Amino acid sequence: MIAYPQMTAEQRKREYTRQQEAFEALKAQKLSLNMARGKPGKQQLDMVSDVIFNLMKEPKDFLSGSIDVRNYGEMSGLPSAKRLFAELLGCKPEQVFVGGNASLQLMYDTISKAYTHGLVHSERPWCREERVKWLCPAPGYDRHFKITESFGFELITIPMTSEGPDMDAVEAAVKDPAVKGIWCVPKYSNPDGVIYSDETVRRMAALRPAAPDFTVMWDNAYCVHEFEGAYVDFPDILAECAAAGNPDMVFEFASTSKITLPGAGIACFATSEENLAYLSELLTIQIISFDKVNQQRHVLYLKDKANTLELMKKHAAIMGPKFRAVLDTLDREIAPLEIASWERPRGGYFVSLNAMPGTAHRTWELCREAGVTLTGAGATFPYGKDPRDSNLRIAPSLPPVEELEKAIDVLCVCLKMAALEKLGV
Ligand SMILES: Cc1ncc(COP(=O)(O)O)c(C=O)c1O
Repeated sequence: MIAYPQMTAEQRKREYTRQQEAFEALKAQKLSLNMARGKPGKQQLDMVSDVIFNLMKEPKDFLSGSIDVRNYGEMSGLPSAKRLFAELLGCKPEQVFVGGNASLQLMYDTISKAYTHGLVHSERPWCREERVKWLCPAPGYDRHFKITESFGFELITIPMTSEGPDMDAVEAAVKDPAVKGIWCVPKYSNPDGVIYSDETVRRMAALRPAAPDFTVMWDNAYCVHEFEGAYVDFPDILAECAAAGNPDMVFEFASTSKITLPGAGIACFATSEENLAYLSELLTIQIISFDKVNQQRHVLYLKDKANTLELMKKHAAIMGPKFRAVLDTLDREIAPLEIASWERPRGGYFVSLNAMPGTAHRTWELCREAGVTLTGAGATFPYGKDPRDSNLRIAPSLPPVEELEKAIDVLCVCLKMAALEKLGV
């Protein structure tokens, strides 16, 4: 197979005709396949639905120690649920706040409270600042970027490297007092699947920002989500920040959305005890207690870290083949053509594909025409604008393997057509 950039114009023309025929044949199948969002597949949901059905049959199941989980109270979460998350994250239970079903809501709320009331070290609420800037390692998670965009913050792109955000760029940016925070997905980052190196974690914890209330939003959404290989231990950012003299700089987030059920799991944030007391006081005005029945279900179901990691191996047995189907096809069909690059993640929910610059939108459009939905091109960058029009996020978890194979065939044909069009046919 000749790489596309090395082909003559004539060869490219012939190749384009071939791919167009393949495209029309796929289109005729009237496919409706979705690789847009990181949703667990039905097999995974079925596997963990006991979390709802099989527990809480006996009256004693409603007790967590002496706490009746059905009643008001314990606003910051059941102590047993705090212990569970603390063990998963490697922090202390007294640093953990367990909320409702979505970590994204806790993230939004943290930013929202900083905006309306300020944080522990704020000179004033962020709404009173002339401007607030926010660091967005990109490619990154679109919903993170949307939160900070919705508050009118100015989003600053920080390049991602194979070891996490470019820390030289971060260290330079935080010298500006208007820069109030950064989004981080430290383990199996969305979408690159990168695990931050120890050096990155150390430098992040040791930042010396000009803003006293600079906040690291440490979204550890994929903390136990290996689908290949052994569980990878990861440093406790809270302890790292405390050791570097920044105990209140970080809020860490996690949830069971991709351990049990997204939409019906439990979520937490972990932070210094001072931050936690401050936020709890504000949250008390907002809610009397979160859903402790569900917290109890999860404690009874997941038990502890060892048991949770066993469950994650069962998820891996379902997820692994899906990722391999995507990656093996890309290796076989696309790698020799030199029109795109990607990494081989070992956990998380995504494959981050860098198409030939200037072809991501076109590839996305062609996929849609052939019945395959991908996350919008550009979505992985602040304001939805990828300056190179290159990155595409593939989420292989939802479709069954047979459908996924079809979807990835479509993607390969579309990548080829878009690249040939760009090179000139
Ligand atoms: C990095 C990251 N954080 C958070 C979430 C959403 O988590 P939750 O369901 O706890 O709100 C996702 C979902 O895709 C994600 O990729």
